[in-house]
Amino acid sequence: MILNSIIDCIGNTPVIELKDDLIPKGKRLYLKLEYFNPNFSVKDRTAYGLVKAALDNGKLKEGGILIESTSGNLGKSLCMLGAALKFKVIIVVDPKISPSILNWYEAYGAHVDMVKEPAENGGFQQARINRVKELLEKYPNAYWPNQYDNPDNPYYHYNTTAKEIMKLPTSSVIGAISTGGHLCGVGKLVKEKSPNTKVIACDVKGSAVFDNFFKPYLINGVGLSWRGENTDISVIDKVSISNDQEAISMCNLLAKEHGVMVGGSGGLVVLTALAWLKNSDCDSAVAIIPDTGINYLDQIYNKAWRDEKGITLLNRTNIENIINKKVFSTPKEKILI
Ligand SMILES: Cc1ncc(COP(=O)(O)O)c(C=O)c1O
Repeated sequence: MILNSIIDCIGNTPVIELKDDLIPKGKRLYLKLEYFNPNFSVKDRTAYGLVKAALDNGKLKEGGILIESTSGNLGKSLCMLGAALKFKVIIVVDPKISPSILNWYEAYGAHVDMVKEPAENGGFQQARINRVKELLEKYPNAYWPNQYDNPDNPYYHYNTTAKEIMKLPTSSVIGAISTGGHLCGVGKLVKEKSPNTKVIACDVKGSAVFDNFFKPYLINGVGLSWRGENTDISVIDKVSISNDQEAISMCNLLAKEHGVMVGGSGGLVVLTALAWLKNSDCDSAVAIIPDTGINYLDQIYNKAWRDEKGITLLNRTNIENIINKKVFSTPKEKILI
């Protein structure tokens, strides 16, 4: 099949069935591999949803400017779209950004704007947002996607990712939350069309999306130091929290025993899905895997890095014990604790 452009390679990602003794007999676990998108993450979909809506409603035009604060997967996707759809991209980053991600942005011809100092109150995250606001004053016609609160983010997943998932024979969907965009977009359609299908959110210990305090953690992409408006708890049945060690151990097991190399949030999602199948009467689950382990070869897949961070890999028996005891709460119970 010959496609029109790289944009047509976004979405329609493959699904595999995981066969593992940790899955209870007679139950099924499917992995939706979002790392088959062009920049190897679910954020290609999110970025395209944000850009497409802005092009459709005139907030962004060919030759125009898009400005965003990001140091991760969304930036890669926005930079690719700028090159493919002919608009300029300014990405505001801070000195903590990894050199390979910086190269990624520049390879697509984006302009990288580095803040030098943390903000007085909120560290670099706040400093970057302040800089975006300064740039928006300088370029008043520029478009700021603001993935955390912009409803175009979940809406795109509601119209695309969700439809792909609804075709699968499953009684539950499990996903990781940061902005909430992909899981809550999927969850909204699931709840409209198949209300008995359970939507399960997972987060990393330390994130403040469902817990009321923030503490730094190691895995990337998932969690946040606050809860964005795109986290719509009305479409989530249960929430479960796992720590860095559990997620990273699951990643290494999947890579070594199944040849499936996922990012830290993917490990978190699979661990949660296994625990959900074990502790609920659902007979099947789709786990949405946000990105590839290639992004983290020198981190979660590197023993020297793990040793430096104090992470010891759990063995299969440890993982099984953790899965058996994992707790699932409703989002409201979790937020009120
Ligand atoms: C690796 C990874 N995992 C999980 C997520 C969470 O996705 P969302 O922002 O749609 O909640 C992201 C999004 O940045 C991500 O890049």
